[in-house]
Amino acid sequence: MNFKFTHGELYDIDVDTLVVFTPAYTKLNNKRLVELDQVSNGSLKLLLSSKEFTGNAKQTAVLYKPESVTASRVLLIGLGEKRKINHDSFRKAAGIASRHAAVTTGKSLGFYFDSFSSPEYFQAAAEGFLLGGFKMLDYKTTSEAKKKSAVSSCTFVVTGKKDLKKLEKAVRRGQIIAEGQLLARRLSYTPANDLTPTILARQAEKLAKEHKIKCTILGKPEIIKERMGALLSVAQGSAEPPRFIILEYKGGSARRAPIVLVGKGVTFDSGGISIKPSLNMHEMKQDMTGAAVMLSTIVTAARLKLPLNIVTLIPSTENMPSSKAVKPGDIIKTRKGLTVEIINTDAEGRLILADALDYATKFKPEAVIDIATLTGAALYILGYAGAPIVCNNRKLANGLRKAADLSAERVWELPMWDDFREAMKSPIADLWNSGGRAAATLTAAAFLENFIGNHPWAHIDIAYLDAEPKGSEYTPKGPTGFGTRLLVEMLSNWRSN
Ligand code: BES
Ligand code: MN
Ligand code: ZN
Repeated sequence: MNFKFTHGELYDIDVDTLVVFTPAYTKLNNKRLVELDQVSNGSLKLLLSSKEFTGNAKQTAVLYKPESVTASRVLLIGLGEKRKINHDSFRKAAGIASRHAAVTTGKSLGFYFDSFSSPEYFQAAAEGFLLGGFKMLDYKTTSEAKKKSAVSSCTFVVTGKKDLKKLEKAVRRGQIIAEGQLLARRLSYTPANDLTPTILARQAEKLAKEHKIKCTILGKPEIIKERMGALLSVAQGSAEPPRFIILEYKGGSARRAPIVLVGKGVTFDSGGISIKPSLNMHEMKQDMTGAAVMLSTIVTAARLKLPLNIVTLIPSTENMPSSKAVKPGDIIKTRKGLTVEIINTDAEGRLILADALDYATKFKPEAVIDIATLTGAALYILGYAGAPIVCNNRKLANGLRKAADLSAERVWELPMWDDFREAMKSPIADLWNSGGRAAATLTAAAFLENFIGNHPWAHIDIAYLDAEPKGSEYTPKGPTGFGTRLLVEMLSNWRSN
Protein backbone atom coordinates (compact mmCIF):
# COMPACT_ATOMS: atom_id res chain seq x y z
CA MET A 1 0.00 0.00 0.00
CA ASN A 2 1.23 3.39 -1.03
CA PHE A 3 0.75 6.02 1.69
CA LYS A 4 0.64 9.72 0.86
CA PHE A 5 0.34 12.78 3.04
CA THR A 6 -1.18 16.12 2.23
CA HIS A 7 -3.08 19.07 3.61
CA GLY A 8 -6.10 20.80 2.18
CA GLU A 9 -9.79 21.45 2.33
CA LEU A 10 -12.32 18.69 2.40
CA TYR A 11 -13.88 19.58 -0.97
CA ASP A 12 -10.56 19.75 -2.74
CA ILE A 13 -8.87 16.37 -2.16
CA ASP A 14 -8.19 14.41 -5.32
CA VAL A 15 -9.06 10.83 -4.37
CA ASP A 16 -11.76 8.38 -5.49
CA THR A 17 -13.12 7.88 -1.98
CA LEU A 18 -12.68 10.43 0.77
CA VAL A 19 -13.39 9.16 4.27
CA VAL A 20 -14.76 11.75 6.68
CA PHE A 21 -14.81 10.63 10.33
CA THR A 22 -18.06 11.89 11.80
CA PRO A 23 -18.90 12.22 15.50
CA ALA A 24 -22.51 11.55 16.44
CA TYR A 25 -24.55 14.74 16.21
CA THR A 26 -28.08 15.89 16.51
CA LYS A 27 -27.96 18.71 14.03
CA LEU A 28 -25.68 20.19 11.42
CA ASN A 29 -23.52 22.07 13.91
CA ASN A 30 -20.05 21.00 12.91
CA LYS A 31 -18.07 23.41 10.72
CA ARG A 32 -16.83 20.64 8.39
CA LEU A 33 -20.29 19.19 7.96
CA VAL A 34 -21.83 22.60 7.18
CA GLU A 35 -19.12 23.06 4.59
CA LEU A 36 -19.71 19.58 3.18
CA ASP A 37 -23.43 20.28 3.00
CA GLN A 38 -22.82 23.46 1.04
CA VAL A 39 -20.51 21.86 -1.50
CA SER A 40 -22.78 18.85 -1.86
CA ASN A 41 -25.78 20.98 -2.65
CA GLY A 42 -27.66 20.27 0.55
CA SER A 43 -27.59 16.49 0.26
CA LEU A 44 -25.96 16.09 3.63
CA LYS A 45 -28.77 17.98 5.34
CA LEU A 46 -31.24 15.69 3.59
CA LEU A 47 -29.30 12.62 4.71
CA LEU A 48 -29.30 13.84 8.28
CA SER A 49 -32.98 14.66 8.38
CA SER A 50 -33.68 11.18 7.05
CA LYS A 51 -31.99 9.91 10.25
CA GLU A 52 -30.40 7.19 8.13
CA PHE A 53 -27.02 8.37 9.35
CA THR A 54 -26.42 9.93 12.74
CA GLY A 55 -22.69 9.39 13.22
CA ASN A 56 -23.12 6.55 15.68
CA ALA A 57 -20.25 4.06 15.81
CA LYS A 58 -20.21 1.56 12.90
CA GLN A 59 -22.57 3.67 10.76
CA THR A 60 -21.58 4.54 7.22
CA ALA A 61 -23.12 6.66 4.47
CA VAL A 62 -21.92 7.59 1.01
CA LEU A 63 -22.42 10.91 -0.75
CA TYR A 64 -21.88 9.96 -4.37
CA LYS A 65 -20.35 12.55 -6.70
CA PRO A 66 -21.25 15.59 -4.63
CA GLU A 67 -21.34 18.57 -7.00
CA SER A 68 -18.47 20.78 -5.87
CA VAL A 69 -16.30 18.10 -4.32
CA THR A 70 -13.18 16.81 -6.10
CA ALA A 71 -13.46 13.29 -4.63
CA SER A 72 -15.85 10.93 -6.45
CA ARG A 73 -17.48 9.90 -3.22
CA VAL A 74 -17.45 10.98 0.36
CA LEU A 75 -17.70 8.10 2.81
CA LEU A 76 -19.00 9.24 6.17
CA ILE A 77 -18.07 6.92 9.03
CA GLY A 78 -19.57 7.32 12.49
CA LEU A 79 -17.22 7.75 15.45
CA GLY A 80 -19.95 7.62 18.07
CA GLU A 81 -20.67 10.05 20.87
CA LYS A 82 -18.19 12.89 20.88
CA ARG A 83 -17.18 12.66 24.54
CA LYS A 84 -16.43 8.95 24.18
CA ILE A 85 -14.22 9.26 21.11
CA ASN A 86 -10.70 7.94 21.61
CA HIS A 87 -7.94 6.37 19.50
CA ASP A 88 -9.83 3.11 19.20
CA SER A 89 -12.82 4.90 17.64
CA PHE A 90 -10.46 5.81 14.80
CA ARG A 91 -8.98 2.31 14.62
CA LYS A 92 -12.50 0.91 14.29
CA ALA A 93 -13.71 3.53 11.79
CA ALA A 94 -10.63 3.06 9.58
CA GLY A 95 -11.07 -0.72 9.75
CA ILE A 96 -14.63 -0.30 8.48
CA ALA A 97 -13.36 2.07 5.78
CA SER A 98 -10.81 -0.41 4.45
CA ARG A 99 -13.43 -3.07 3.95
CA HIS A 100 -15.96 -0.59 2.56
CA ALA A 101 -13.48 0.82 0.06
CA ALA A 102 -12.45 -2.69 -1.01
CA VAL A 103 -15.88 -3.36 -2.48
CA THR A 104 -15.99 -0.14 -4.52
CA THR A 105 -14.15 0.51 -7.77
CA GLY A 106 -12.24 3.44 -6.29
CA LYS A 107 -8.46 3.10 -6.59
CA SER A 108 -7.46 5.83 -4.21
CA LEU A 109 -8.68 6.32 -0.69
CA GLY A 110 -8.28 9.39 1.48
CA PHE A 111 -8.66 9.84 5.22
CA TYR A 112 -9.63 13.35 6.15
CA PHE A 113 -8.75 14.42 9.67
CA ASP A 114 -10.56 17.28 11.30
CA SER A 115 -8.87 19.70 13.65
CA PHE A 116 -9.94 17.67 16.71
CA SER A 117 -7.62 14.86 15.61
CA SER A 118 -4.28 14.19 17.30
CA PRO A 119 -1.25 12.03 16.38
CA GLU A 120 -2.58 9.06 18.37
CA TYR A 121 -5.70 9.22 16.19
CA PHE A 122 -3.60 9.30 12.99
CA GLN A 123 -1.64 6.28 14.18
CA ALA A 124 -4.77 4.39 15.20
CA ALA A 125 -6.41 5.06 11.82
CA ALA A 126 -3.37 3.70 9.98
CA GLU A 127 -3.44 0.60 12.19
CA GLY A 128 -7.17 0.08 11.74
CA PHE A 129 -6.94 0.51 7.99
CA LEU A 130 -4.19 -2.10 7.57
CA LEU A 131 -5.49 -4.54 10.18
CA GLY A 132 -9.07 -4.31 8.88
CA GLY A 133 -7.89 -5.27 5.40
CA PHE A 134 -6.26 -8.53 6.57
CA LYS A 135 -7.12 -11.60 4.49
CA MET A 136 -5.90 -15.18 4.61
CA LEU A 137 -4.89 -15.63 1.00
CA ASP A 138 -1.72 -17.75 1.16
CA TYR A 139 -3.59 -20.97 0.43
CA LYS A 140 -6.22 -19.66 -1.97
CA THR A 141 -5.56 -20.50 -5.60
CA THR A 142 -8.58 -19.19 -7.51
CA SER A 143 -8.35 -15.77 -9.12
CA GLU A 144 -11.76 -14.98 -7.64
CA ALA A 145 -10.42 -15.36 -4.09
CA LYS A 146 -7.10 -13.73 -4.92
CA LYS A 147 -8.75 -10.68 -6.47
CA LYS A 148 -7.12 -7.66 -4.90
CA SER A 149 -9.07 -4.70 -3.64
CA ALA A 150 -8.91 -1.90 -6.21
CA VAL A 151 -7.47 0.45 -3.58
CA SER A 152 -3.79 0.98 -4.28
CA SER A 153 -3.07 4.29 -2.60
CA CYS A 154 -4.12 5.83 0.65
CA THR A 155 -3.79 9.54 1.34
CA PHE A 156 -3.88 10.97 4.84
CA VAL A 157 -5.14 14.54 4.89
CA VAL A 158 -5.01 17.26 7.50
CA THR A 159 -6.37 20.78 7.17
CA GLY A 160 -3.27 22.74 8.11
CA LYS A 161 0.24 22.38 6.74
CA LYS A 162 1.71 22.62 10.23
CA ASP A 163 0.30 19.19 11.18
CA LEU A 164 1.77 17.42 8.16
CA LYS A 165 5.03 16.26 9.81
CA LYS A 166 3.20 14.95 12.86
CA LEU A 167 0.74 13.19 10.59
CA GLU A 168 3.38 11.37 8.59
CA LYS A 169 5.34 10.32 11.66
CA ALA A 170 2.26 8.94 13.41
CA VAL A 171 0.98 7.12 10.32
CA ARG A 172 4.40 5.52 9.69
CA ARG A 173 4.47 4.32 13.27
CA GLY A 174 0.98 2.88 12.93
CA GLN A 175 2.01 1.19 9.69
CA ILE A 176 5.03 -0.51 11.28
CA ILE A 177 2.98 -1.72 14.24
CA ALA A 178 0.15 -3.00 12.04
CA GLU A 179 2.61 -4.80 9.77
CA GLY A 180 4.05 -6.47 12.87
CA GLN A 181 0.63 -7.63 13.93
CA LEU A 182 -0.14 -8.87 10.41
CA LEU A 183 3.05 -10.92 10.51
CA ALA A 184 1.89 -12.51 13.77
CA ARG A 185 -1.54 -13.22 12.26
CA ARG A 186 0.00 -14.84 9.22
CA LEU A 187 2.32 -17.11 11.21
CA SER A 188 -0.60 -17.92 13.46
CA TYR A 189 -2.88 -19.27 10.70
CA THR A 190 -0.12 -21.13 8.84
CA PRO A 191 -0.98 -24.83 9.17
CA ALA A 192 1.27 -27.11 11.21
CA ASN A 193 2.50 -29.01 8.14
CA ASP A 194 3.98 -25.75 6.88
CA LEU A 195 5.10 -24.43 10.23
CA THR A 196 7.04 -27.05 12.15
CA PRO A 197 9.52 -25.96 14.85
CA THR A 198 12.25 -26.25 12.19
CA ILE A 199 10.39 -23.98 9.77
CA LEU A 200 9.48 -21.50 12.53
CA ALA A 201 13.16 -21.26 13.44
CA ARG A 202 14.07 -20.67 9.80
CA GLN A 203 11.49 -17.91 9.56
CA ALA A 204 12.90 -16.33 12.71
CA GLU A 205 16.40 -16.50 11.23
CA LYS A 206 15.25 -14.84 8.04
CA LEU A 207 13.44 -12.03 9.86
CA ALA A 208 16.40 -11.52 12.17
CA LYS A 209 18.73 -11.10 9.22
CA GLU A 210 16.41 -8.58 7.56
CA HIS A 211 16.21 -6.44 10.67
CA LYS A 212 19.73 -6.84 12.00
CA ILE A 213 18.74 -8.87 15.02
CA LYS A 214 21.10 -11.53 16.39
CA CYS A 215 19.65 -15.00 16.05
CA THR A 216 20.75 -18.27 17.64
CA ILE A 217 18.89 -21.52 17.09
CA LEU A 218 19.36 -24.43 19.44
CA GLY A 219 18.65 -27.80 17.81
CA LYS A 220 17.97 -31.00 19.70
CA PRO A 221 21.63 -31.71 20.62
CA GLU A 222 22.08 -28.18 22.04
CA ILE A 223 18.75 -28.42 23.87
CA ILE A 224 19.99 -31.68 25.42
CA LYS A 225 23.24 -29.93 26.37
CA GLU A 226 21.18 -27.20 28.07
CA ARG A 227 19.37 -29.94 30.01
CA MET A 228 15.98 -28.59 28.99
CA GLY A 229 14.26 -31.77 30.12
CA ALA A 230 10.80 -30.23 30.16
CA LEU A 231 10.95 -29.07 26.55
CA LEU A 232 12.47 -32.41 25.53
CA SER A 233 9.72 -34.37 27.29
CA VAL A 234 7.05 -32.62 25.23
CA ALA A 235 9.03 -33.01 22.02
CA GLN A 236 9.82 -36.71 22.45
CA GLY A 237 6.44 -37.85 21.08
CA SER A 238 6.90 -36.12 17.76
CA ALA A 239 8.92 -36.98 14.66
CA GLU A 240 9.58 -33.24 14.32
CA PRO A 241 12.63 -32.16 16.34
CA PRO A 242 12.27 -29.22 18.76
CA ARG A 243 13.94 -25.85 18.39
CA PHE A 244 14.88 -23.20 20.94
CA ILE A 245 15.00 -19.79 19.25
CA ILE A 246 16.99 -16.89 20.72
CA LEU A 247 16.70 -13.42 19.19
CA GLU A 248 18.66 -10.47 20.54
CA TYR A 249 17.99 -6.86 19.57
CA LYS A 250 20.46 -4.31 20.90
CA GLY A 251 19.00 -0.83 20.69
CA GLY A 252 20.22 0.29 24.11
CA SER A 253 23.65 0.70 25.68
CA ALA A 254 25.71 -2.47 25.98
CA ARG A 255 25.64 -2.42 29.77
CA ARG A 256 21.92 -2.22 29.99
CA ALA A 257 20.03 -5.37 31.11
CA PRO A 258 17.64 -6.70 28.49
CA ILE A 259 13.90 -7.17 28.66
CA VAL A 260 13.25 -10.81 27.87
CA LEU A 261 10.13 -11.81 25.95
CA VAL A 262 9.10 -15.48 26.00
CA GLY A 263 6.52 -16.91 23.60
CA LYS A 264 4.95 -20.39 23.60
CA GLY A 265 5.79 -22.04 20.30
CA VAL A 266 3.77 -25.26 20.18
CA THR A 267 3.29 -25.62 16.42
CA PHE A 268 0.59 -28.23 16.96
CA ASP A 269 -1.03 -29.31 20.22
CA SER A 270 -2.88 -32.60 19.87
CA GLY A 271 -2.77 -32.99 23.64
CA GLY A 272 -0.32 -35.89 23.37
CA ILE A 273 -1.32 -39.13 25.13
CA SER A 274 -3.97 -37.10 27.01
CA ILE A 275 -5.35 -36.46 23.55
CA LYS A 276 -7.82 -33.67 22.84
CA PRO A 277 -11.29 -34.30 21.39
CA SER A 278 -11.25 -34.06 17.59
CA LEU A 279 -13.82 -31.25 17.46
CA ASN A 280 -11.87 -28.05 16.68
CA MET A 281 -8.52 -29.77 17.16
CA HIS A 282 -7.37 -28.10 13.93
CA GLU A 283 -7.37 -24.80 15.82
CA MET A 284 -4.38 -26.06 17.79
CA LYS A 285 -2.13 -25.17 14.85
CA GLN A 286 -2.37 -21.71 16.44
CA ASP A 287 -0.79 -22.87 19.71
CA MET A 288 2.34 -21.00 18.60
CA THR A 289 0.64 -17.59 18.63
CA GLY A 290 2.68 -16.51 21.67
CA ALA A 291 5.84 -17.24 19.67
CA ALA A 292 4.48 -15.35 16.65
CA VAL A 293 3.68 -12.35 18.85
CA MET A 294 7.10 -12.25 20.53
CA LEU A 295 8.76 -12.62 17.13
CA SER A 296 6.71 -9.79 15.63
CA THR A 297 7.27 -7.66 18.74
CA ILE A 298 11.06 -7.81 18.57
CA VAL A 299 11.00 -7.18 14.80
CA THR A 300 8.69 -4.20 15.32
CA ALA A 301 10.85 -2.86 18.16
CA ALA A 302 13.86 -3.05 15.81
CA ARG A 303 11.99 -1.29 13.01
CA LEU A 304 10.96 1.47 15.45
CA LYS A 305 14.56 1.63 16.69
CA LEU A 306 13.48 1.50 20.33
CA PRO A 307 16.41 2.43 22.63
CA LEU A 308 16.27 -0.86 24.53
CA ASN A 309 17.90 -4.25 24.62
CA ILE A 310 15.34 -6.95 23.96
CA VAL A 311 15.67 -10.72 23.89
CA THR A 312 12.98 -13.02 22.49
CA LEU A 313 13.02 -16.67 23.54
CA ILE A 314 10.87 -19.23 21.78
CA PRO A 315 10.72 -22.86 22.91
CA SER A 316 9.15 -24.66 19.97
CA THR A 317 7.84 -28.20 19.60
CA GLU A 318 4.88 -30.29 18.54
CA ASN A 319 2.80 -32.06 21.19
CA MET A 320 1.98 -35.49 19.73
CA PRO A 321 0.96 -38.94 20.94
CA SER A 322 3.20 -41.86 19.96
CA SER A 323 4.91 -44.84 21.52
CA LYS A 324 7.77 -42.50 22.37
CA ALA A 325 5.55 -39.82 23.87
CA VAL A 326 5.74 -38.75 27.49
CA LYS A 327 3.05 -40.53 29.54
CA PRO A 328 0.87 -39.50 32.46
CA GLY A 329 2.76 -40.48 35.58
CA ASP A 330 6.20 -39.99 34.05
CA ILE A 331 8.52 -37.75 36.03
CA ILE A 332 10.80 -35.41 34.15
CA LYS A 333 13.57 -33.00 35.20
CA THR A 334 13.52 -29.34 34.17
CA ARG A 335 16.55 -27.26 33.22
CA LYS A 336 16.37 -25.65 36.65
CA GLY A 337 16.56 -29.08 38.29
CA LEU A 338 13.04 -29.21 39.68
CA THR A 339 11.24 -32.50 38.98
CA VAL A 340 7.75 -32.57 37.50
CA GLU A 341 5.22 -35.38 37.54
CA ILE A 342 3.29 -35.37 34.28
CA ILE A 343 -0.39 -35.64 35.18
CA ASN A 344 -1.81 -34.48 31.88
CA THR A 345 0.31 -34.41 28.73
CA ASP A 346 -2.02 -31.69 27.40
CA ALA A 347 -0.56 -29.28 29.97
CA GLU A 348 2.56 -28.99 27.79
CA GLY A 349 2.77 -25.21 27.45
CA ARG A 350 3.88 -24.64 31.04
CA LEU A 351 6.57 -27.30 30.62
CA ILE A 352 8.27 -25.69 27.67
CA LEU A 353 7.83 -22.22 29.21
CA ALA A 354 9.42 -23.45 32.45
CA ASP A 355 12.71 -24.19 30.68
CA ALA A 356 12.50 -20.93 28.71
CA LEU A 357 11.82 -18.79 31.80
CA ASP A 358 14.73 -20.45 33.56
CA TYR A 359 16.93 -19.76 30.53
CA ALA A 360 15.75 -16.12 30.62
CA THR A 361 17.28 -15.63 34.07
CA LYS A 362 20.70 -16.18 32.45
CA PHE A 363 20.43 -12.69 30.94
CA LYS A 364 19.99 -11.02 34.36
CA PRO A 365 16.95 -9.37 32.79
CA GLU A 366 15.38 -6.10 33.80
CA ALA A 367 12.03 -7.85 33.32
CA VAL A 368 10.59 -10.97 31.74
CA ILE A 369 7.24 -11.13 29.98
CA ASP A 370 5.75 -14.34 28.65
CA ILE A 371 2.74 -14.73 26.41
CA ALA A 372 1.05 -18.04 25.71
CA THR A 373 -2.13 -19.77 24.60
CA LEU A 374 -1.86 -21.57 27.91
CA THR A 375 -5.20 -22.49 29.48
CA GLY A 376 -8.63 -22.99 27.97
CA ALA A 377 -9.96 -21.77 31.33
CA ALA A 378 -8.88 -18.21 30.41
CA LEU A 379 -12.04 -18.05 28.29
CA TYR A 380 -14.16 -18.24 31.43
CA ILE A 381 -12.36 -15.34 33.06
CA LEU A 382 -12.55 -12.47 30.55
CA GLY A 383 -14.06 -14.16 27.48
CA TYR A 384 -12.83 -12.68 24.22
CA ALA A 385 -12.65 -9.21 25.78
CA GLY A 386 -9.16 -9.28 27.25
CA ALA A 387 -6.29 -11.36 28.54
CA PRO A 388 -5.80 -12.35 32.18
CA ILE A 389 -2.32 -11.52 33.45
CA VAL A 390 -0.35 -12.51 36.52
CA CYS A 391 2.50 -10.30 37.63
CA ASN A 392 4.99 -10.21 40.52
CA ASN A 393 5.93 -6.54 40.09
CA ARG A 394 3.79 -3.38 40.46
CA LYS A 395 5.66 -1.28 37.94
CA LEU A 396 5.44 -3.93 35.28
CA ALA A 397 1.73 -4.47 35.93
CA ASN A 398 1.04 -0.72 35.72
CA GLY A 399 3.01 -0.48 32.51
CA LEU A 400 1.00 -3.29 30.96
CA ARG A 401 -2.28 -1.76 32.10
CA LYS A 402 -1.35 1.57 30.54
CA ALA A 403 -0.18 -0.08 27.33
CA ALA A 404 -3.44 -2.01 27.21
CA ASP A 405 -5.38 1.27 27.32
CA LEU A 406 -3.27 2.82 24.57
CA SER A 407 -3.30 -0.22 22.29
CA ALA A 408 -6.88 -1.38 22.96
CA GLU A 409 -5.51 -4.85 23.64
CA ARG A 410 -6.89 -5.27 27.12
CA VAL A 411 -5.38 -7.13 30.04
CA TRP A 412 -6.54 -7.54 33.62
CA GLU A 413 -4.43 -8.66 36.54
CA LEU A 414 -5.40 -11.68 38.61
CA PRO A 415 -3.98 -12.55 42.06
CA MET A 416 -1.23 -15.03 42.80
CA TRP A 417 -2.08 -16.73 46.08
CA ASP A 418 -0.52 -19.61 48.02
CA ASP A 419 -3.63 -21.70 47.28
CA PHE A 420 -2.56 -21.89 43.64
CA ARG A 421 1.05 -22.68 44.55
CA GLU A 422 -0.12 -25.48 46.84
CA ALA A 423 -2.26 -26.94 44.08
CA MET A 424 0.85 -27.53 41.95
CA LYS A 425 2.79 -29.64 44.47
CA SER A 426 3.10 -33.32 43.62
CA PRO A 427 3.25 -35.92 46.39
CA ILE A 428 6.09 -37.69 44.56
CA ALA A 429 7.96 -35.00 42.57
CA ASP A 430 8.65 -31.32 43.32
CA LEU A 431 5.72 -30.24 41.13
CA TRP A 432 3.10 -31.73 38.90
CA ASN A 433 1.94 -30.20 35.69
CA SER A 434 -1.78 -29.99 36.36
CA GLY A 435 -3.61 -28.56 39.35
CA GLY A 436 -7.01 -29.74 38.13
CA ARG A 437 -9.98 -27.73 36.93
CA ALA A 438 -10.20 -25.12 39.68
CA ALA A 439 -8.51 -21.81 38.81
CA ALA A 440 -6.59 -23.55 36.02
CA THR A 441 -5.27 -20.26 34.61
CA LEU A 442 -3.80 -19.33 37.99
CA THR A 443 -2.41 -22.72 38.93
CA ALA A 444 -0.65 -22.71 35.54
CA ALA A 445 0.83 -19.31 36.41
CA ALA A 446 1.82 -20.61 39.85
CA PHE A 447 3.71 -23.43 38.13
CA LEU A 448 5.60 -20.96 35.92
CA GLU A 449 6.50 -18.78 38.90
CA ASN A 450 8.85 -21.49 40.16
CA PHE A 451 11.20 -20.88 37.25
CA ILE A 452 11.61 -17.10 37.19
CA GLY A 453 13.34 -16.52 40.54
CA ASN A 454 13.01 -12.96 41.83
CA HIS A 455 13.03 -11.25 38.46
CA PRO A 456 10.18 -8.86 37.61
CA TRP A 457 7.83 -11.03 35.58
CA ALA A 458 4.47 -10.82 33.85
CA HIS A 459 2.54 -13.73 32.39
CA ILE A 460 -0.13 -13.12 29.74
CA ASP A 461 -2.57 -15.93 28.90
CA ILE A 462 -4.02 -15.47 25.40
CA ALA A 463 -5.84 -18.80 25.00
CA TYR A 464 -8.88 -18.04 22.80
CA LEU A 465 -7.77 -14.44 22.22
CA ASP A 466 -5.50 -15.73 19.47
CA ALA A 467 -8.55 -16.04 17.21
CA GLU A 468 -11.49 -13.71 16.61
CA PRO A 469 -14.64 -15.84 16.41
CA LYS A 470 -17.04 -13.45 14.64
CA GLY A 471 -15.04 -10.66 13.07
CA SER A 472 -15.03 -7.08 14.33
CA GLU A 473 -14.15 -3.67 12.87
CA TYR A 474 -10.40 -4.17 12.41
CA THR A 475 -10.09 -7.83 13.31
CA PRO A 476 -11.64 -10.00 10.61
CA LYS A 477 -12.72 -13.50 11.66
CA GLY A 478 -9.53 -15.51 12.10
CA PRO A 479 -6.16 -15.01 13.78
CA THR A 480 -5.74 -11.80 15.80
CA GLY A 481 -2.03 -11.53 16.54
CA PHE A 482 -3.22 -10.31 19.96
CA GLY A 483 -0.37 -8.91 22.02
CA THR A 484 1.73 -7.28 19.33
CA ARG A 485 0.23 -3.82 19.79
CA LEU A 486 0.14 -4.26 23.57
CA LEU A 487 3.81 -5.22 23.87
CA VAL A 488 5.13 -2.71 21.35
CA GLU A 489 3.25 0.02 23.21
CA MET A 490 4.61 -1.24 26.52
CA LEU A 491 8.19 -1.24 25.20
CA SER A 492 7.77 2.18 23.55
CA ASN A 493 6.97 3.71 26.93
CA TRP A 494 9.59 1.72 28.86
CA ARG A 495 11.27 3.61 31.69
CA SER A 496 14.16 1.94 33.41
CA ASN A 497 14.84 2.30 37.11
N1 BES B 1 -3.03 -24.99 24.15
C1 BES B 1 -3.89 -25.40 25.19
C2 BES B 1 -4.76 -24.29 25.73
C3 BES B 1 -5.83 -23.78 24.79
C4 BES B 1 -7.08 -24.36 24.77
C5 BES B 1 -5.59 -22.69 23.98
C6 BES B 1 -8.05 -23.88 23.93
C7 BES B 1 -6.56 -22.20 23.13
C8 BES B 1 -7.80 -22.80 23.11
C9 BES B 1 -3.05 -25.93 26.37
O1 BES B 1 -1.88 -26.57 26.02
C10 BES B 1 -3.89 -26.91 27.10
O2 BES B 1 -4.24 -27.91 26.52
N2 BES B 1 -4.20 -26.62 28.37
C11 BES B 1 -5.00 -27.47 29.17
C12 BES B 1 -4.38 -27.54 30.54
C13 BES B 1 -4.99 -28.58 31.43
C14 BES B 1 -4.72 -29.96 30.91
C15 BES B 1 -4.43 -28.42 32.81
C16 BES B 1 -6.40 -26.89 29.23
O3 BES B 1 -6.54 -25.67 29.31
O4 BES B 1 -7.36 -27.66 29.19
MN1 MN C 1 -2.19 -28.61 25.56
ZN1 ZN D 1 -1.05 -26.02 24.21
